[in-house]
Amino acid sequence: MKKCIAANWKMFKTRLDARETATALAALTADKLPADREVLIFPPFTAISAVREALGSRTGFGVGAQNFYPAEEGAYTGEIAPDMLIDLGCSWSLAGHSERRHVFKEGDDLVAAKTVFGLNKGLNIILCIGETLEQRKNGHLETVLREQLRTALLECSQKDLASRLAVAYEPVWAIGTGEVARNQDITEAHAFIRSQLLDIKPGHGEAMRILYGGSVKPKNIADIISLDNVDGVLVGGASLSAESFSQIVLG
Ligand code: PGA
Repeated sequence: MKKCIAANWKMFKTRLDARETATALAALTADKLPADREVLIFPPFTAISAVREALGSRTGFGVGAQNFYPAEEGAYTGEIAPDMLIDLGCSWSLAGHSERRHVFKEGDDLVAAKTVFGLNKGLNIILCIGETLEQRKNGHLETVLREQLRTALLECSQKDLASRLAVAYEPVWAIGTGEVARNQDITEAHAFIRSQLLDIKPGHGEAMRILYGGSVKPKNIADIISLDNVDGVLVGGASLSAESFSQIVLG
């Protein structure tokens, strides 16, 4: 399966900024994107169409949403349903990003509901998991990761799950802080996640992609992407500029 290089633009960029960044990224990577890599961009909802249009039918690029609500439609003021995202050209969505879990207090059950509902509606999902510094210091790393994975994955029964669901390991203390996890921390956490995936989803767990996220930059991508069980990266800050993200895409 291709390595997945994903850009999470969070709450940044107007439509014009988004269109310019996507166009510049496409130009900077034209004819250079390795055949074993795919690029996914997660703009804010309001810029999804602009990015979709800017990328056109360019192969190797996809567009996704950062979040959605797990219902068909209805009286959910302020929320967006999977069908609306698919209608905009999204093929992916994040679920359970640490900012959703910590700023908006989304618990494992809501993240699980989103994962199952999104997959059933036809969205591919990047399920984000990760521990806080306190949980790590208290020796709860494995318990936290196991619980986040189990709750989200137990009800997922798609035959093609391995190609439609990726896990992003993002230690909360490494997101937006400039603090990159050490290679050893990443290798250990990814090996543990792999063992859990094999256990929770036998037959799928081996091929499921595990992405690393947390202060990925052009200068550390080459090291991180070559670690065992690292099948891609989820990039926040360094994905906002086409210049730096193109270096990560090609790095
Ligand atoms: P960062 O964000 O690269 O800015 O640390 C990663 C993320 O939030 O997915």
